[in-house]
Order: sequence, then C-alpha cells, then structure tokens
Amino acid sequence: MKLILLGPPGAGKGTQCKRIADRYEIAHLSSGDILRAQRAAGTELGQKAQKYMDSGGLVPDDIIIGMMIDAMKKAAAGYVLDGFPRTVVQAEELDKALAEASEEITGIVNLQVPDDLILDRLTGRRSCPQCGAVYHIQNLKPRAEGICDRDAQTLVQRPDDKPEVVADRLKAYHEQTAAVVSYYEGRGKSVIIIDAADDIEQVTASIFSKLDVLCSRVG
Ligand code: AP5
Repeated sequence: MKLILLGPPGAGKGTQCKRIADRYEIAHLSSGDILRAQRAAGTELGQKAQKYMDSGGLVPDDIIIGMMIDAMKKAAAGYVLDGFPRTVVQAEELDKALAEASEEITGIVNLQVPDDLILDRLTGRRSCPQCGAVYHIQNLKPRAEGICDRDAQTLVQRPDDKPEVVADRLKAYHEQTAAVVSYYEGRGKSVIIIDAADDIEQVTASIFSKLDVLCSRVG
C-alpha cells in the first residue's frame, strides 16, 4: 500500500502513521522526522532547513521533493507519507515521480481538527530524542512522567512546539498546505476524511476501518 496522510500540525499524523505502518507493514516516511535527523547529523540539507523549521515556515520545495522521492524509492514494501506533499508544487512533483515509475497512490487520508485543539496538543507534546516515540502530557502519558516507555530516555519538547511558533505553523498550513486536499479532489482522487478531534484510539479505529477496505481491494 502507498498512502498519504494529510492534516494540520498536531492533527495526529505522526501518531497515526506509526500505527498504520505497523498494521499494514509499510514504511512510515515523515518529512519532519527526516529533516530533524538531517539536522541532528549536521548535513548540508539539515543546515539549509533549520531556519525555516525554527520559524514555523515551510522548507523550500526543491529541498523537500528530492529528499522524499529518494525515501519512497527505498520503501519497497510500500509507505505512508506523513507531512508530504505540503504544497501544490510538491503534490505535482510527487504525481510526476509516480507516473514515471508507473505507480499509484492507494489512498489519501485527511485528518480534520479545528485550530483551537491544536495549540494544546502541540504545547503538550513530548518526544523521545532516541526512538522518536511521541507522548502528550495529558492525552498520552508515558508510564513514568518525562521518561520514554521504550528506552527510558528523558523526553524533550520540540523547539517548534512553543506557542508563538505553533501560530506560524498553522498560518503556513492554511496558506500553503490546505490547498493540497483540493488539488487531489480536483483530479478526481477520493480523499478519506477522518474526524481527528476524537480521542486517539477512536481516530485509529476510524482510519483502520477505511484502510482495511482499501487493503482488501489491493490484496
Ligand atoms: P512536521 O514534523 O511534519 O510537523 P507537522 O506537520 O507540523 O506535524 P506535527 O509533527 O507537529 O504533528 P502531527 O500531526 O504529526 O501530530 P502528532 O501525532 O505528533 O514538520 C515540522 C517542520 O518541518 C515544518 O514546520 C516545516 O518547517 C518542515 N517540513 C516538514 N515537511 C515539509 C514539507 N513537506 N514541505 C516543507 N516543509 C516541511 O500529535 C501531536 C500531539 O497531539 C502529540 O502529543 C499526541 O500525543 C497528541 N495527539 C495526537 N492525536 C491526538 C488525539 N486524537 N487526541 C488528543 N491528542 C492527540
């Protein structure tokens, strides 16, 4: 299966993509995680992306597109894209790359959440710097406060989860990313809409019920 998960910052894309990747045995390709790994490794790409990420803006398309298409080529068993495409130009380039490889996206899922829930989700998020597991100080607590369940690392807050940066990320979403849904609908692609304001388990159940149907069709 080749899936795209769309939605605003804090919609739960990372949380749900990890579960989707486990259930359907496909790769979770998160543009944000790949960029953060490049930054941590001090690569040229990571250094170029840094100022855009820290300010809550989008990293330029020319940096992102090659990076994500390379990752997709390595994911032979299929993938779920998290955070890509995020502009209409990225969606167009993704379509071109898929057409060149005679491939198609199996399904597109859009997580819908009102803006007023997002600030609380993002400012309360804590992540493991070692394994990338994501928690929330109220909605998804680790067993021991501030410590990752998987590897006992101390959890950290992402620098772009500060309230002032979250506001800019939401602005970038409405100005540049929301149009990606219309792009796909305008090309006759069906977009599965999920109410992601529900609790995490309910959102997972809604997504799985739709994707199980798609999965049985592609075999
Ligand atoms: P990225 O890392 O992709 O960030 P994002 O899209 O802003 O998404 P988030 O990771 O913040 O949220 P999420 O939807 O994954 O939510 P999560 O599951 O963690 O991008 C970071 C930056 O990189 C961008 O700002 C940009 O600069 C750059 N970038 C990345 N891709 C790019 C691209 N294609 N083009 C250009 N630039 C790009 O959940 C959030 C919190 O809420 C967690 O604590 C979780 O526990 C909790 N939660 C989740 N679901 C629920 C629920 N249903 N109920 C209650 N709490 C919930």
